[in-house]
Amino acid sequence: MYTTDLSGKQQADKIAEDPALVAAFEARVANDDFIEPKDWMPEAYRKTLVRQISQHAHSEIVGMLPEGNWITRAPNLRRKAILLAKVQDEGGHGLYLYCAAETLGTSRQQMIEALHSGKAKYSTIFNYPTLTWADIGAIGWLVDGAAIMNQVPLQRTSYGPYARAMVRICKEESFHQRQGYEIMMALCAGTKDQKRMAQDALDRWWWPSLMMFGPPDDNSPNTAQSIRWRIKRETNDELRQKFVDVTVPQAEAIGLKVPDPALSWNDARGHYDFGDIDWDEFYAVVRGEGLVAKERMTARIQAWEDGAWVREAAQAHAMKREAAKLAAE
Ligand SMILES: [Fe+2]
Ligand SMILES: [Fe+2]
Repeated sequence: MYTTDLSGKQQADKIAEDPALVAAFEARVANDDFIEPKDWMPEAYRKTLVRQISQHAHSEIVGMLPEGNWITRAPNLRRKAILLAKVQDEGGHGLYLYCAAETLGTSRQQMIEALHSGKAKYSTIFNYPTLTWADIGAIGWLVDGAAIMNQVPLQRTSYGPYARAMVRICKEESFHQRQGYEIMMALCAGTKDQKRMAQDALDRWWWPSLMMFGPPDDNSPNTAQSIRWRIKRETNDELRQKFVDVTVPQAEAIGLKVPDPALSWNDARGHYDFGDIDWDEFYAVVRGEGLVAKERMTARIQAWEDGAWVREAAQAHAMKREAAKLAAE
């Protein structure tokens, strides 16, 4: 659900690469060709993609936890069925993305280990707790809404398997965004307490959602290279602005107030101006100091350990089938 690069610095690759290969690669990218797994690519391009795609995959998987927390407490059967489908979609997104990253020569095992050891990052947004049912509405509306802003341009990212995974993912994210907004609409059309719950959820999720786009452009050293390689098509600040511009009228339409006193429409720019983001909070969450960061990792590690027997059984079954096939030949 989330893709912004949090790693801070780009490793300049020291390996000398054939200038003719580099030039041919760059020409293809500039021409908007897709780069495919067996094509030659610069090592730094491969590394940037592995980091970004695996971070994205981890975010989908960890992102199942805050909402999974509400499946058994959904207010009615319809809401439960929708939420269950949505959380399953996120699991599917994680799996497509792990597969896309594997085509770059990294294994699922390596990626999972990097997540569990804390070496790999996932979106900061999932380290905030879901306190009320309205949070499920706010997450669909804002978090999946922010994810769509990030991901729509990635359908044209330069690496073919990543771009193709994003086409299907984006279709599902649109459904996620609408189901979240519909929960907010229902709450806002309900009792005073329900409306208060919706406003409280917006108050708590608004700023963390803006942080999902990653650090500001002047503090995002990877952006220029990623744009040149067409891994990213728009900068963090451009995407954040688009999100604000689209989302503020949606809040107004259902009578909610965006918790930002500095927010105002700027006619000259044709965009909303908005207040300063608390970047100290963002970097603290990136460092692993989020409110429920430990809980999230404990849950993931537990799920991985509990599922070991399934992976082992599937592998044993595959080996038996292979052996039977060989014996029949
Ligand atoms: Fe997703
Ligand atoms: Fe989603």
